[in-house]
This record gives sequence, C-alpha cells and structure tokens, in this order.
Amino acid sequence: MKSQALSDLIARTRSCRRFRQAEGIEMATLRELIDLARLGGSARNVQPLKYLPVNDPARNEAIFPHLGWAGYLKDWPGPPEGERPAAYIVCLLDTRLAKEAGCDLGIATQNILLGATVRGLAGCRIGSVSPTLGRRLDLADHLRILQVLALGHPLEQVVIEPLGAEGDIRYWRDPEGVHHVPKRSLDELIVAAGAGE
Ligand SMILES: Cc1cc2nc3c(=O)[nH]c(=O)nc-3n(C[C@H](O)[C@H](O)[C@H](O)COP(=O)(O)O)c2cc1C
Repeated sequence: MKSQALSDLIARTRSCRRFRQAEGIEMATLRELIDLARLGGSARNVQPLKYLPVNDPARNEAIFPHLGWAGYLKDWPGPPEGERPAAYIVCLLDTRLAKEAGCDLGIATQNILLGATVRGLAGCRIGSVSPTLGRRLDLADHLRILQVLALGHPLEQVVIEPLGAEGDIRYWRDPEGVHHVPKRSLDELIVAAGAGE
C-alpha cells in the first residue's frame, strides 16, 4: 500500500453516527473485522479483549437505548429509527485474564474501524454505555463491557476542519447535515526539543 493510500484511509475513517439501517452487515463480515482486532498489539501479549458481534434487529434494538450519542450535539438524541446501526461489536474485557485493557482497546477498535472503511462501512466508538447493558445481554460475570462499536452503511458525510481561532474542539453539524470535526494542526502537536525549558 502506498503511504498516500494509508493516509487517505485513516482520514476517511471518521466516527459516523447515522446509517442506512435497512442495509445489514453479515455475521461473516463482523467476524472478519474482529479478526483485524485480533492481530493488534497487546500489552504483555495477554490479549484480554473479547468481542460480542450483534447484527439481528431484536438485539440491535435492545442495545441501542443503552448508548450515549454525540455529547456535543445537545439537540440530537442520537440516530432516529431508520438511521440506526445495522450491527454492533460489543468490546469486552475478560477479567479472568486482566484487570484492565490499557491501550489494547484503542488499537483493536482502530483496526476494526479501518477494516470497516475499506468495506464501505463506517462506525462509531461508544464509550458512553449504560452499566445495565451487560445484564440485558446476559453476559457472563467475567466479561466487562468496555465499549460498543456501532457499525453500518454510512448515511452522513463527515469532514475534518482546522480548529477555529478560539480553539473550540467541539464537533458540529451544519444545516445540510454534514458533520464537522475540528482537528488540531500538525504544528500544534509537534513539540520542539527543549520547549519546556
Ligand atoms: C474512547 C472513545 C470513546 C468515545 N465515545 C463516544 C460516545 O460515547 N458517543 C459518541 O457519539 N462518540 C464517541 N466517541 C467518538 C468521538 O466523539 C470522536 O472520535 C471525536 O468526535 C472525533 O471524531 P473522529 O472519530 O471522526 O475523529 C468516542 C471516541 C473515543 C476515542
């Protein structure tokens, strides 16, 4: 893969919160995405993450009310019926293997979201998950929900913006429904040696 192609893939892998709900995602595809997570790095190579793939309408409906959507969009309670995720991957910590997941979760979810993008899909990490979801899904006691990945065929356009002069990092949606995500500039991120002295 050319480096430009990799940059484009990463830039296109944006959080998406509105989907063509009627277009499903096969269980085989969810398994392929989880296999990408499997190949990611893991602290001490413990690999304590487990995954629950869900793609049936009844369980999708059971999961949805437990999720918090786009905290900065105060007037938007989340995607309406018809624009909801077609599938989820519930990311779990196997507490028999480790007490915390460290960086593994970020690596795993990024691999999944990159894999979704190349398949024409999109998704969003949902860290805002109600503590009652585990019971609703009848999970074994040793499995702790860390995050839920919402997945589907994208319905919304997401664009990256430079941060405004006032430095506001909040994403916003314009009247046409395009979702704008401010990102800090490269120069702001790179620290000169000895800058703290
Ligand atoms: C650890 C983590 C947790 C997140 N939790 C939520 C969430 O609960 N609800 C939501 O709508 N978005 C959530 N997001 C998505 C962020 O809002 C999103 O990454 C951010 O706005 C930047 O957009 P981008 O992913 O397109 O770069 C989460 C992202 C991360 C990395």
